[in-house]
Amino acid sequence: MNDPGVRLLFGRDEISRRVRELGASIAETYAGHAPGKLVLVGVLKGSSIFLADLIRAARVDAGVDFISISSYASDGPGSGVVRIVKDLEQEIAGKHVLLAEDIVDTGLTLTYLRKTLQARDPASLRTVTLIDKPARRLLPVPVDWVGFEAPDEFLLGYGLDYRGIYRNVPELFSVPDVARLALEPRTFVERLYPQHGP
Ligand code: XMP
Ligand code: MG
Repeated sequence: MNDPGVRLLFGRDEISRRVRELGASIAETYAGHAPGKLVLVGVLKGSSIFLADLIRAARVDAGVDFISISSYASDGPGSGVVRIVKDLEQEIAGKHVLLAEDIVDTGLTLTYLRKTLQARDPASLRTVTLIDKPARRLLPVPVDWVGFEAPDEFLLGYGLDYRGIYRNVPELFSVPDVARLALEPRTFVERLYPQHGP
């Protein structure tokens, strides 16, 4: 795994240990809340793998729901203009909502999501993100729990994809030279899925 094009950032044990810590802290925060009032909201698709591990690590009475968004292509990536592609299936008024993100980068997506959910009058709204890239922040946005801080490099694995590829890689990798992926999106497939090797 020492292809210079892709660097192991966090291995499976490290991720699992950190997710257990986050889960314990989250469970402590919500302990004693009225039963049936906590909803964990995953942002599809990136946070699905993190959320699956986190909900078992946070042993509290909680429902799960998902929201899916996409950036308006016409405004370009990073414009912060997003649209809801799949909304929550439940009302969140009066509920305690914990929004689970895979990564907070510029903060534009999370700012939009928080504003949208806050308008529905939840009892509380907190956020947990697996990865924070603070160097990239354009908008300050409150994040209650951060799994790992990461450098300003493109990341892959544990839910994070490049054009839909690499999401199910169990570890987190960084790609210092993202131009390589742009040229050939499957360039790291042999490296990260060893059974596809020559
Ligand atoms: P913002 O900039 O709005 O971005 O905070 C959050 C969303 O951008 C995507 N993102 C990434 N996806 N590797 C990825 O696979 C990365 O390094 C990365 N950085 C940002 C992601 O969808 C996130 O929800
Ligand atoms: Mg993505």
